[in-house]
Amino acid sequence: MERLSDWYDHPEYYEAIFGTDTEREMDFLLEVGRRYGTGGKRLLEPACGAGRLVAEAARRGCQVVGYDISEKMLAYGRQRLTPAQRRRVRLYASRMETFHRPELEGQMDLAFNLVSTFRYLDSEAAALAHLEGTRRLLKPEGLYVLGFHLTHYPRRKPEHERWVERLGKDTVVCNTHEGLPERRLRRSEMRNRLRITGPGKDLLIETHWYFRTYDLAQARRLFRRAGLRVVEVFDFDYQVDTPRKRGEMRLDSIFVLQPAKSPA
Ligand SMILES: C[S@@+](CC[C@H](N)C(=O)[O-])C[C@H]1O[C@@H](n2cnc3c(N)ncnc32)[C@H](O)[C@@H]1O
Repeated sequence: MERLSDWYDHPEYYEAIFGTDTEREMDFLLEVGRRYGTGGKRLLEPACGAGRLVAEAARRGCQVVGYDISEKMLAYGRQRLTPAQRRRVRLYASRMETFHRPELEGQMDLAFNLVSTFRYLDSEAAALAHLEGTRRLLKPEGLYVLGFHLTHYPRRKPEHERWVERLGKDTVVCNTHEGLPERRLRRSEMRNRLRITGPGKDLLIETHWYFRTYDLAQARRLFRRAGLRVVEVFDFDYQVDTPRKRGEMRLDSIFVLQPAKSPA
């Protein structure tokens, strides 16, 4: 078995796992934009990775800006676009903490960041800088749709998710493990294993990192500090007709955020 590290150096396997829900996610995002925001088609995806959502939005006629820290993910994202999609897409190498393009300020109808990517921001200052920077890019009625897994600090068991997908003749098995939250340090240890097997192939890609932790109060406090108000909350099932009821507590959360009318 060949062993490698960092799944983002292997976008094709990452996409085999995460690419399966892309159309449903885009249906959800555009419908949220219509119901709660401007309904416009200028979109931004911070940490867009290999561009599955960017490409899907461009296919539906949106103008899309995406950026990511990983050159390999971006390269995959660029080469997947058709000429027509390419005319609608701008991709940049940048970090979530520092993305800055003055010409885009106040221009975006809808920004989105799903699958817990926001939790890579490893300090309050980094998360705040990202949220404030994204807010500045939104139109006054624009939205930032931010999906991530909240932390239940008293949890006593590690969490584990497993998916299996096919990629051509290969089978990709993905196991993600989240250790117990370290409340004082505001982080959980993460491990992902991608095992790829197929004709003449047996590959293990093992990735380790920390995710920052948020309970609901910590998340809401941060949004307020960043000048963003919570317009609605959804579950990870992308059902736009069934927003979360007030007081109902689930960990997988998609926050629909909008610039607050007056500074927080
Ligand atoms: C789970 S993937 C999500 C990719 C894409 N948004 C999607 O839904 O398929 C996380 C992405 O975040 C990027 N990333 C991690 N930390 C980052 C940072 N500080 N700034 C920008 N991108 C970052 C990684 O390179 C990776 O492409």
